Amino acid sequence: MKNTTDFIKKTPTDHDIIDLVKNRWSPRTFSDKPISQKELQVLFEAGRWAPSSSNLQPWNIVWGIKGSETYDRIMDVLVEFNQKWAKNAPVLLLGVVDTKTPKGDDNYHAPLDLGQFSANMAIQAQSMGIAFHQMAGLDYEKAKKEFKFPETFHVATAIALGYYGGELSDVPDFLQDAELGERSRKKQNDFVFNGDYKATGDVNDN
Ligand SMILES: Cc1cc2nc3c(=O)[nH]c(=O)nc-3n(C[C@H](O)[C@H](O)[C@H](O)COP(=O)(O)O)c2cc1C
Repeated sequence: MKNTTDFIKKTPTDHDIIDLVKNRWSPRTFSDKPISQKELQVLFEAGRWAPSSSNLQPWNIVWGIKGSETYDRIMDVLVEFNQKWAKNAPVLLLGVVDTKTPKGDDNYHAPLDLGQFSANMAIQAQSMGIAFHQMAGLDYEKAKKEFKFPETFHVATAIALGYYGGELSDVPDFLQDAELGERSRKKQNDFVFNGDYKATGDVNDN
């Protein structure tokens, strides 16, 4: 087992931000330390208090702890690439949204609301030393059928979570560089505009 500090990645921020945001990253190895149901309840509680459009809270979560049938059923809907490393996680989740409002209209904001739920959970998890790795790589239709969600629901994401930890050898060779590499992001002036799209530079230019 490595030291906890081995799991803080180099994150070259351009401005000072809080450590909970700066130090969160998405590992593919996890500690063997189990996650308790109480800890899961804390994470779901953080998600529960996320804002949502019209307070519709369109999110739904399926959870499974390693060794359980539900865990294996979630694993079974992941794409093969994700199965190769998600097996290291003590907990697997699915994030599911109802794409319709209670009135039957399209709820275009549902994925955004699930995203806010997930971000709240991820930051709460970070405060507890728990890593939270989201995955789009899953068979959505198979998952919807497998877990008996109604037709209007969309299985938007899977999530692998567990305490930061584990060994590099827990992932196949081709994934090991990613565990060690520096994190990177676009620059703010690639996506922040004080006017028309691409018309102006970032806030620092003003
Ligand atoms: C919605 C979403 C889907 C993702 N899907 C996958 C995935 O299927 N497999 C995977 O290994 N990582 C996946 N990731 C993790 C991203 O690759 C990762 O967040 C990104 O490279 C930035 O790295 P960081 O989270 O360590 O900062 C996903 C992340 C998000 C938010």
